[in-house]
Amino acid sequence: MIKNGRANFGSKLGIILASAGSAVGLGNIWRFPYETGNYGGAAFIFIYLGCVLVLGLPIMIGEFLIGRRSRANTAGAYQILAPGTQWKWVGRMGVLAGFMILSFYSVVAGWTLEYVFEAIGNGFAGKTPDEFVNSFQSFSGNPWKPVIWLVLFLLSTHFIIVRGVEKGIEKFSKIMMPMLFVLILILVGCSVSLPGASKGIEFLLKPDFSKVDSNVILAAMGQAFFSLSLGMGCLCTYASYFNKDVNLTRTAFSVGIIDTFIAILAGFIIFPAAFSVGIEPDAGPSLIFITLPNVFQQAFSGAPWLAYIFSVLFYVLLAVAALTSTISMHEVVTAYLHEEFKLSRKRAAWMVTGGCIFFGILCSLSLGVGKGFTLFGLGMFDLFDFVTAKIMLPLGGMLIAIFVGWYLDKKIVWEEITNNGTLKVYAYKTIIFILKYIAPIAIAIVFINELGFI
Ligand code: PHE
Repeated sequence: MIKNGRANFGSKLGIILASAGSAVGLGNIWRFPYETGNYGGAAFIFIYLGCVLVLGLPIMIGEFLIGRRSRANTAGAYQILAPGTQWKWVGRMGVLAGFMILSFYSVVAGWTLEYVFEAIGNGFAGKTPDEFVNSFQSFSGNPWKPVIWLVLFLLSTHFIIVRGVEKGIEKFSKIMMPMLFVLILILVGCSVSLPGASKGIEFLLKPDFSKVDSNVILAAMGQAFFSLSLGMGCLCTYASYFNKDVNLTRTAFSVGIIDTFIAILAGFIIFPAAFSVGIEPDAGPSLIFITLPNVFQQAFSGAPWLAYIFSVLFYVLLAVAALTSTISMHEVVTAYLHEEFKLSRKRAAWMVTGGCIFFGILCSLSLGVGKGFTLFGLGMFDLFDFVTAKIMLPLGGMLIAIFVGWYLDKKIVWEEITNNGTLKVYAYKTIIFILKYIAPIAIAIVFINELGFI
């Protein structure tokens, strides 16, 4: 649908699914479980949920309103709403964060493609847990294979971006998201019925708050921003394609609930299975790739054809979930280059794809042959992940909260949240209070704590 010369999403369901498609991705199924494993389990999840509810949802509403009001890419949005000020840097930082996330995220997205083909070739059959660990390590450390998949993945993202918003992004999300959800439910059922699964369930539900320190809080907050695609203008860019009658608060809640639910379910697939086969929960980024194949093998040991079908389906849908997220990051940077530098959309998209292939390759190599090259003790992959999720996104979120809570005209905020007074938003005052006080102060405290000032 083209309105005022700019593309729009076609339907309300399409809007929710496309935004949820951005939010739901490797962040839920790959990153959430391994961060939960690294930071001790249930207590991390508790803090994570708090961050989603108290920081994530109000800031998401803030991003939505900036995007829909300005109808521009994220950097342009600040120039329209706050002309002549430095607020544009919030948008620009978001564009940079999007570019950096896309670079390392595509590496993992590429791994999912390798696993799709492994599953199709029945490569998991008959392997022991140790063999899964070894084959992942030799694959991810290989200088060529992951790079080829990464390039393929970025090119797929590229071609969908070039097809445009409605045809490309919306149609895709509408079919794939519900399928992924059903499959995840089935896998939860399988995983929790494995022998010894109860230890994993306990790990997810019994919090040990004695282990919580500022590191855990920063990680949980970063994960909340990462998983909700917040703090970098992604949902702001999507909202610039929303119609005037979209209920921003309700959309934010729907996206938040879907995203959180899928992350928690992913936890219920991974940990019962990991404990069942004896994989340590803090295995890091490899966690889902070494745990999940075991779920398929063991849960369906009596029916190998079911193991086959489910493993193929799962990795295909995981790749698709990753794709709907990479599309959203790519869109942020492409829309920025296209609108701010007056490049054609195609040309802008090629620049993003090319740049991400370059940095993506460096990220990929940093896990294998390039292990020795580190900055601040981190390889490129870990550095990009750390700087974006734990610094740029929360910082972006804090600035967005301040922008909406303090800078923006109250009338604009009211008009956007209530659709010019036609909607009754019961949480209105709470949302504003959080954006004004709670979010900026809470994020600042976590940062200051982490930097060691307190
Ligand atoms: N939210 C996505 C995921 O969980 C990742 C993402 C981060 C997408 C930031 C866009 C912007 O996989």
